Amino acid sequence: MTLTVEMESDFHFREPSKDDGASVWELIKDTKVLDLNSSYSYLMWCDIFSETSIVAEKDGKTLGFISGYKNPNNPNKLFIWQVAVDASARGNGLATKMLYQLLKRRACKEINYVEATVSPSNHPSQSLFKGLAKKLDTGCHIRDYFITEDFPDEEEEHEDELLFTIGPIATKNK
Ligand SMILES: CC(C)(COP(=O)(O)OP(=O)(O)OC[C@H]1O[C@@H](n2cnc3c(N)ncnc32)[C@H](O)[C@@H]1OP(=O)(O)O)[C@@H](O)C(=O)NCCC(=O)NCCS
Repeated sequence: MTLTVEMESDFHFREPSKDDGASVWELIKDTKVLDLNSSYSYLMWCDIFSETSIVAEKDGKTLGFISGYKNPNNPNKLFIWQVAVDASARGNGLATKMLYQLLKRRACKEINYVEATVSPSNHPSQSLFKGLAKKLDTGCHIRDYFITEDFPDEEEEHEDELLFTIGPIATKNK
């Protein structure tokens, strides 16, 4: 996976720490399409799930974030919870690069499947995961998962969430 030369040298990729929680919360809020969880949850996530999560920074500003965890029932599956790239940095391969960086981590040595839920209307997200499968030369299986009726009554109805399963991922392709 290659980013444009400019992005490869400009971005710094690293595990988050609790100090990233606030800026990650801002980044997620600014997407306006992702569920914004409590600020507490991002502080906690960045601290506890840092090994399977990533931030991308440029000039000290957080422009990309992925929260992931190893599925406790299937430790060979990396579940990707939220992916966000600042609007100014989209369309240049940054989200794909972050996924690759995660898969290369020591903590993800045993991972051979990536899972994520995506709403049917989120075309950039669908392209991201389908594109990942293509680049990893593997399959992308899509099935129903959470449906609107599973969510509590809110002002705005929650869309369905389809489950994308990408894999098996060969170690040589990571
Ligand atoms: C989805 C998102 C993370 C993609 O980030 P990105 O850095 O622009 O993604 P990439 O550049 O790595 O692109 C990955 C693929 O998606 C495609 N893609 C990116 N933006 C797209 C768009 N707006 N419409 C259609 N396809 C798009 C790219 O062409 C690429 O496809 P390819 O692999 O076939 O070349 C970003 O648009 C975002 O933060 N959106 C708001 C939050 C969100 O919806 N997150 C995902 C749900 S968890």
